[in-house]
Amino acid sequence: MSEQGLREAAVSVRGAPFLSDVFRHPEAAPTIVKLVFDHPANEDRDYQIRRGMITAIADSYRDGEEVPRIDYTEAEHGVWRTILQRLDEPHARLACRRYRDAWAALALDRERVPQLADVNAVIAPRTGFRMSPVTGFVAARSFFGELARGVFLSTQYVRYANTPLFSPDPDVLHELIGHAPTLLDPVFAELNRHFGRTALRVDDATLEKVIRMHWFTLETGLAMEDGAPRAYGAAILSSPEEMKHALGRATIRPFDIAAICDTPFEPTVLQDQLFLGEDLDSTIAAVTAWLDGL
Ligand SMILES: [Fe+2]
Repeated sequence: MSEQGLREAAVSVRGAPFLSDVFRHPEAAPTIVKLVFDHPANEDRDYQIRRGMITAIADSYRDGEEVPRIDYTEAEHGVWRTILQRLDEPHARLACRRYRDAWAALALDRERVPQLADVNAVIAPRTGFRMSPVTGFVAARSFFGELARGVFLSTQYVRYANTPLFSPDPDVLHELIGHAPTLLDPVFAELNRHFGRTALRVDDATLEKVIRMHWFTLETGLAMEDGAPRAYGAAILSSPEEMKHALGRATIRPFDIAAICDTPFEPTVLQDQLFLGEDLDSTIAAVTAWLDGL
């Protein structure tokens, strides 16, 4: 199989699958995933082929079907176990209570990578949300449009095993650890839906502000709790390295809607700039009111 004959697809960037470029040559197989940024697996063809196999499964998915089950390898299950072990302590110490309660209620299998279909069986009866497979790249309005109807587009591949503590792009561990609890919790679930409904009705310039607000809250948000900053953002909570960086080295700014709207972000690297709400409930209320006013 020549290089030209390989089907190439760019992957999404963490937490914002709509921001990357995609290159597709659907005429050929097998599929590899060509990583379009400075990714640790850029030279690892085996990993890219594995990503391609899982991307192809998402590609063939049709809305309304049960999410296809991925036959994860023992190595991939090992990455899942490692990450959970590494997150137990920082989550207990530094994650917001609402997130911790939802994570506990979700009660995911700690030994094997959970299947989105099984997670959907837990969250759908509670909030109506379901996770739906995605190849990686989705336009912003599509991503948010799905949120509006209670569908969270989720990757199913596992991050690169050689660098498991931080993934520059959103893998299934990010979706399961960072986002799934927020789809189970009714307050977070409603905020997800609110972002979706708002994004569907605003112009492009306003949509950019909505994307930034989403990033600096549901992806990387912090809020004060019991006198200290705690994390509730999915990108922070799903990475041991990001947890350490966010609550140790990053610049933490007070939550400020105008400042967030003016702040661009780079989702593929450790976050140097975060916004801290006075408390989680008032931050969610402020975001909701802002979205309603757009
Ligand atoms: Fe995300």
